[in-house]
Amino acid sequence: MCGIVGYVGPKEAQPILIDCLKRLEYRGYDSAGIAIGGDEINVYKTEGEIAVLEAGMPQMPGVVGIAHTRWATQGRPTTENAHPFQGCEKGVAVVHNGIISNFMELRESLAGDGHNFSSETDTEVFAHLVEAELKEDSDLLETVRIALKRVEGTYAFAVVAPGRPEVVAARNESPLVIGVGNGENFLASDVTALLKYTNRIIYVQDGETVRITKDSVTIMDADGAEVKRAPERIAWSLEDAEKGGYPHFMLKEIFEQPAAIHDSFLGRIDAVEGDEPFLDGGSFSSVKIVACGTSYNAGLVGKYIIEELARVPVTVQISSEYRYSAAARENPLVVLITQSGETLDTIAAAREATKRGNRTLAIVNVTGSAITREVDHVIYTRAGPEIGVAATKTFVTQLVALYLLAIELGTMGRTLTAQAKRSIVGQLRNLPRSVQDVLNQAGTIEAMAQKYSGARDMFFIGRNLQYPIAMEGALKTKEISYIHGEGYPAGELKHGPLALLSKDTPVVAIVTNDRTYEKMIANISEVSARGSPVIAIADANDTEIIKYADDVIFLRETPSLFSPVPVIVALQLWAYHLAKARGCPIDKPRNIAKTVTVE
Ligand code: F6R
Repeated sequence: MCGIVGYVGPKEAQPILIDCLKRLEYRGYDSAGIAIGGDEINVYKTEGEIAVLEAGMPQMPGVVGIAHTRWATQGRPTTENAHPFQGCEKGVAVVHNGIISNFMELRESLAGDGHNFSSETDTEVFAHLVEAELKEDSDLLETVRIALKRVEGTYAFAVVAPGRPEVVAARNESPLVIGVGNGENFLASDVTALLKYTNRIIYVQDGETVRITKDSVTIMDADGAEVKRAPERIAWSLEDAEKGGYPHFMLKEIFEQPAAIHDSFLGRIDAVEGDEPFLDGGSFSSVKIVACGTSYNAGLVGKYIIEELARVPVTVQISSEYRYSAAARENPLVVLITQSGETLDTIAAAREATKRGNRTLAIVNVTGSAITREVDHVIYTRAGPEIGVAATKTFVTQLVALYLLAIELGTMGRTLTAQAKRSIVGQLRNLPRSVQDVLNQAGTIEAMAQKYSGARDMFFIGRNLQYPIAMEGALKTKEISYIHGEGYPAGELKHGPLALLSKDTPVVAIVTNDRTYEKMIANISEVSARGSPVIAIADANDTEIIKYADDVIFLRETPSLFSPVPVIVALQLWAYHLAKARGCPIDKPRNIAKTVTVE
């Protein structure tokens, strides 16, 4: 995820672009850059936050420009890899949010035609594509449309070219809006960036290419036909807008999950099909997953996924415990999961694994974070920045990374036939839709959470893959609503915790349709017999469940290997609405930090 802005008007573009860009910093902050147009295009860019850009840049006169704040996905967060990119010095400049999945192919073809590249990024190829197509008398919007025909992937692009008082932009699955002013027009990744200047907004749609000049807006659809769309008046305050209209970052991040899941596997399906594997050969007898907190819970789900698809034995350990455990006589692949990449316990575990001579792989969200320098291999989860302290979209994208890793291990170990792999990949592709279905039920989940928000204690139970999801539901609940939540494998209740159950202890039971269904029904009957209210999470076609539960959250049926994903999204909403009903400071719960750099 990155932030882009554009401006054309009568005023100096540089201060306006920087001001707008700062409001997009939540979308990424590892490097930033600006391009100002005129007879030639001048670019200044740097590693680091927007403040670093602002402090270092020269005065750049001009009334047309684009700017970018980056969250690295392709290539490290360095000055060379920062946007904008130019096809040639002082020439066409481009900023981009998204991922060009066929960029290697395009890069090779352009290099064959004599283009030189200065970065590791996918975006740079687009600057060269536009440069290659642009003639003195050609129309920039048309040229961009021609260049886009060769691009596969997701994007919001903005482009400026020498001697042209216009910004051209295009959108495919990455957000882009036009801000309509008086004698000036704007472009941005979201409304947030523009509200100080205008509240008249046009939402650009997928497949559209647009041009803004200081007093005109042109929109073309995918077939090249002009589209007329009037601006909408936005009633947000500036503060609302930073959260995209959501009351909390956590809720915004929960709702970003379909897109985050999509981005996390985009272009990677080919990788697991063997073109670009995460691991380049080497042998190991087992997998050991090491992580903390929510990332540990992802690891517990990963154990089931990897054992199911790859039949490799997997153990999962808390980072702070791993370090002091004895090295067993085995040669595991050690997988370290950490959204921040800065958790000291997990970094210490990575060092310990290296000392033990084990191969290491990190699953991490933050590009260039500390752990990436400690391990042999990295899988980035590409969830974009997560600001709410409670991990949500980074958790589901960790699960996606684990599915991809399991597919690769299954392929290497020949436990997955080509046909089974195709079917699993197809199910993976359906995940954003299943998650969207859950989000569509946010209102029902809110009403149910309000009903139980007075509880002091709450149990979460599940079996098999849903057991770690019960743990994660409990962790989210205790972390943000301050209700004491306990996650248990449902079969364990009778070995002790049943003693705690009463009418004041609601039990959230994950009862999706898999081979543990009958056992789960028996377990919730035990719970009801103690008078505890049961809130079941069940499949939409389960007509029996209502006999056993007081309330039911119905979810679209998802194959059991993948159902942890929609279920956790329901539980994130559950925890969120419990916390909201209790008036808790959701984005910054007491005593907890987003990045834990102490042991
Ligand atoms: C809970 C949460 C924490 C983190 C844990 C590890 O919502 O976010 O439990 O999962 O502190 O952090 P990372 O994944 O950055 O290593």
